[in-house]
Amino acid sequence: MAKSHHPLGIDIGGSGIKGAPVDLEVGHFARERLRIETPVESTPTAVADVVARISEHFKHWTGTSPIGVTVPAVVSRGVTRTAANIDQTWIGTDAEALLSSKLGRPVTVVNDADAAGVGELHYGAARDVAGLVLLATLGTGIGTALLNAGELVPNSELGHLQIDGVDAETCASSLARESDKLSWEEWAGRLQRYFAYVEDLLWPDLIVVGGGVSKHAQHYLPLLHLRAPIVPAQLGNAAGIVGAAWLAANQ
Ligand code: BGC
Repeated sequence: MAKSHHPLGIDIGGSGIKGAPVDLEVGHFARERLRIETPVESTPTAVADVVARISEHFKHWTGTSPIGVTVPAVVSRGVTRTAANIDQTWIGTDAEALLSSKLGRPVTVVNDADAAGVGELHYGAARDVAGLVLLATLGTGIGTALLNAGELVPNSELGHLQIDGVDAETCASSLARESDKLSWEEWAGRLQRYFAYVEDLLWPDLIVVGGGVSKHAQHYLPLLHLRAPIVPAQLGNAAGIVGAAWLAANQ
């Protein structure tokens, strides 16, 4: 990698596709992030076209550096196995092969929460933490990342734990707070139930809460009573892009 070139991180979400070159010395964007609307038909080929536009936009800063791409889906060895808020044709698609051939350089595809976990592990709230860290992104759904002794255990999908027969993310996500018009206290009650359950199963040493709502952590994290400390993510919404770029550069 030329010294001035940085790996590119791209975050594919249900409403926007966002990318930025990442300075891995510090874990910050090296240029201002570019956001393009997710195509209404968010098929792999339509999304790959947007990813190519973002890559073209930053080519001066990224050169031929690798690209890390996050998706809201389980990813096994480059193949997307589920699809949350994106077109169902992602299921079974070899996303790494598709994007690498479209962009002409190595592409690493990773689950969005896993990427955020890796970002926090190297540059944020999970840095230098011994033992097991659970990161949960509270957004449209609940994404989770498990980081054990500095290593990602991929595809944990703990947002889909059943609580009272209900998928946890449908009642405890940030979207659920908005659509059910919950006060912070009411939402904290649901989060308490969720995190206490996860904690009883996994016994993490630290819980990190990410997603846009982590900006407002002071309204709900102090209301939670758990064994492990629970803290907001430090990289905010940049964590996924930063973590994806880190993974791409460290394959
Ligand atoms: C998906 C996860 C994803 C999370 C956040 C969940 O519904 O199953 O794969 O990480 O949403 O986007």
